[in-house]
Amino acid sequence: MIEKIKETAAYLKSKVPVMPKTAIILGTGLGELVTHITDKQEIPYNEIPNFPVSTVEGHSGKLIFGKLGKKDIMAMQGRFHYYEGYDMKQVTFPVRVMKELGIETLFVSNAAGGMNPNFSVGDIMIIRDHINLFPEHPLHGKNFEELGVRFPDMSEAYSKKLIDKALEVAAKNNIKVQQGVYVGTQGPTFETPAEYRYFHIIGGDAVGMSTVPEVIVARHAGMDVFAVSVITDLGVEGIVEKASHEEVQKAAAEAQPKMTLIMKELVEQF
Ligand code: HPA
Repeated sequence: MIEKIKETAAYLKSKVPVMPKTAIILGTGLGELVTHITDKQEIPYNEIPNFPVSTVEGHSGKLIFGKLGKKDIMAMQGRFHYYEGYDMKQVTFPVRVMKELGIETLFVSNAAGGMNPNFSVGDIMIIRDHINLFPEHPLHGKNFEELGVRFPDMSEAYSKKLIDKALEVAAKNNIKVQQGVYVGTQGPTFETPAEYRYFHIIGGDAVGMSTVPEVIVARHAGMDVFAVSVITDLGVEGIVEKASHEEVQKAAAEAQPKMTLIMKELVEQF
């Protein structure tokens, strides 16, 4: 695994003149951020050695190196989901490569279903903590001390400093944000009403099918993490609505300007 990580990082270093210290995983609701990146250099995943091969035709995704304001950044446009059939080492491989490239801070976004009765569709939730319900752990198996410790601390998976800064940015721009606990599940089914209820009872505010694996590996590697969800549908008791991919995309698109503004300012300023 280590050789593969080093090989991929060496390839990217040979292509990109300036290595950033900041990376962004552009999930649903943050695609538009790409239009704010300047001095762009794009590298399609299928040209990157050892990157997982996309299962979806014409939907391979790419790494984008460039600037957000004055900050050098790299962005993943398109992520690897567990439900697509990748194992957890593949899902999190790009985060390993980020660390090898010198990334210190990781920003992540996703779409999620809200269980908290105070949430509405279109809300933005800053993730304060998570509950990992994926059936496979990204650190399962032999631990490589070069990558991180065997038993990583997770008491502050999401940087309090970055959360405080994000709250400041949101307040300054009059953007209402929620905060809460993200439950990571394998999907690809949305939840039954009983499952939404269960996830709320155990302490979850929103549920989605990504982010937790990448965050675990980023923390194992010692990176600081900030993550946000856009609430695209509700799994609140009594008002569980029918959820669909189209609806998720639509709600995420509507929340996109708020999400983009917060992320952009936060990345530029922190
Ligand atoms: N459940 C799981 N994943 C999701 C949801 C949901 O309700 N909405 C968007 N991603």
